[in-house]
Amino acid sequence: MPSAHRTAPASGIDDDDATWWRQAAVYQIYPRSFADADSDGVGDIPGITSRVPYLATLGIDAVWLSPFYPSALADGGYDVADYRNVDPRLGTLADFDTMLAALHANGIRVVVDIVPNHTSDLHPWFQDALAAGPGSPARDRYIFRDGVGDEPPTDWVSLFGGSAWERAADGQWYLHNFAVQQPDLNWANADVRADFVRTLRFWSDRGVDGFRIDVAHMLTKDLSGPLPTQAQLDALPRNGTHPTVDRDDVHEVYAEWRAVFNSYTPPRTAVAEAWVDRSRIPLYASPESLGQAFNFELLQADFDARQFRRVVTENLELAEASASSTTWVLSNHDVVRHATRYGLPHPERSADDLPLRKHGTDWLLSGGVEPELDRERGLRRARAASLFVLGLPGSAYLYQGEELGLHEVADIDDAERQDPTFFRSAGLDMGRDGCRVPLPWTSDGPSFGFGSRHAHLPQPRWFGDASVEAQENDLHSTLTLYRRALALRHELQADEELEWIETGREDVLHYVRPNGWRVVTNFGTTEFALTESQVQEDHVALASSETPFGHVPGESTVWLRPA
Ligand code: GLC
Repeated sequence: MPSAHRTAPASGIDDDDATWWRQAAVYQIYPRSFADADSDGVGDIPGITSRVPYLATLGIDAVWLSPFYPSALADGGYDVADYRNVDPRLGTLADFDTMLAALHANGIRVVVDIVPNHTSDLHPWFQDALAAGPGSPARDRYIFRDGVGDEPPTDWVSLFGGSAWERAADGQWYLHNFAVQQPDLNWANADVRADFVRTLRFWSDRGVDGFRIDVAHMLTKDLSGPLPTQAQLDALPRNGTHPTVDRDDVHEVYAEWRAVFNSYTPPRTAVAEAWVDRSRIPLYASPESLGQAFNFELLQADFDARQFRRVVTENLELAEASASSTTWVLSNHDVVRHATRYGLPHPERSADDLPLRKHGTDWLLSGGVEPELDRERGLRRARAASLFVLGLPGSAYLYQGEELGLHEVADIDDAERQDPTFFRSAGLDMGRDGCRVPLPWTSDGPSFGFGSRHAHLPQPRWFGDASVEAQENDLHSTLTLYRRALALRHELQADEELEWIETGREDVLHYVRPNGWRVVTNFGTTEFALTESQVQEDHVALASSETPFGHVPGESTVWLRPA
């Protein structure tokens, strides 16, 4: 008989389910800011284990852990010094195994972050490269070049600001597309390729279910000819032959990884963080490559029906073209939380007033935003947008704290900021610390229950009212809304299609899933009346705001269950 008849193993994870990821709700944990079991101010792996009951009640299918590896934290852990270990401040490999078993026992899968574009400058390979000197095999694992006199090899600019080259003591320069402490690896080097395969196997063997691939579009580079200037680089088409970004040959790396993923049961999954033109996303999402790619378009969209409908339609088509499922992201550890984005004037309309941050090819709003913020409106719209997204086909990636309706923390003192983007832009870009402030678990007490002492980034007073404790038993809280939505999502997610129903209003979207579940979102401010038949045949299973009978209030979403 087909293996589907096998009952789920004691672990709570069904090993026969190779498609679990297609419509999964994946909850991103930023480990240093989630829960602090040893109360040193920094969240840790035992902290996550202690909160497994919370994650189980939330109703998510998987967690994705941002890097927890040994790191000097030059970039919040995305500067990895050892890919096959746990940062001692966050625990041990044994703690990791315990956490994984606890999550699996509750039916929650585990995705870990792989950072292959660069290592930390403290990685033994980079230390060897510095010591071994120009022309050495150790230096070939990175991208070292001679400068021009006392100047760097080119005028290339790091994505975090400033020069993309840093000088070593012997005068050569190394490339770092991000912070100085994040030297780019040379993916033409066989050691580099072999070592990442080893890392993928290491975590897969431990039982990890999937991987999130950091800056997946930048690994391979062709720097064989004379190096272009930044202006020349910017002018070159991004069609697979660009010297540094989104090259076709990066998929040779992923084809090798795919063989590794598919050697496990079920196959390990991967999702690409690839800031590339939409037309090139299917290359990353194809089953021969990473299998799924982030769709970040809702991070850039306004709370606007027309934009949301376009993004949904285009990305569902795109996912179909690659035989993958799409992904919805409203918040993550790199952007201003969506409750805050939706409470602000849209960046396009006020680019002069608001600090913006360049990420890859896109401008994202960033930090320092308190004065213009309409907090209530932002939260109302965030709840509506989350419910809209949770009803869609595809996977939903949620970021820790959005289930509490958290706003960005804007008022962090310069002296307490940690993000290199803040320092490398001389404070012009407020950086990403505001969405990385440790979670509030209790209404008061030191660090609001994050640990029993302080938190590594300062928490504002209003965190108490937004805490898990404050929301847990409140029927109208954002936490309750997420719990209900995630529970109902399993009923609603029968297959991966939707049909738009015309509403007669430009600011109201209505879609129906083939099993009859309907989602209606009113992006405007005037109440929208449901039709007679909707009122009679369906009933409101969930609503993001208080719903008068037969109506969808402004800036709200309702889920209608077929009778
Ligand atoms: C990705 C991560 C971001 C990190 C960067 C460099 O964009 O999401 O947090 O700073 O890569 O690793």
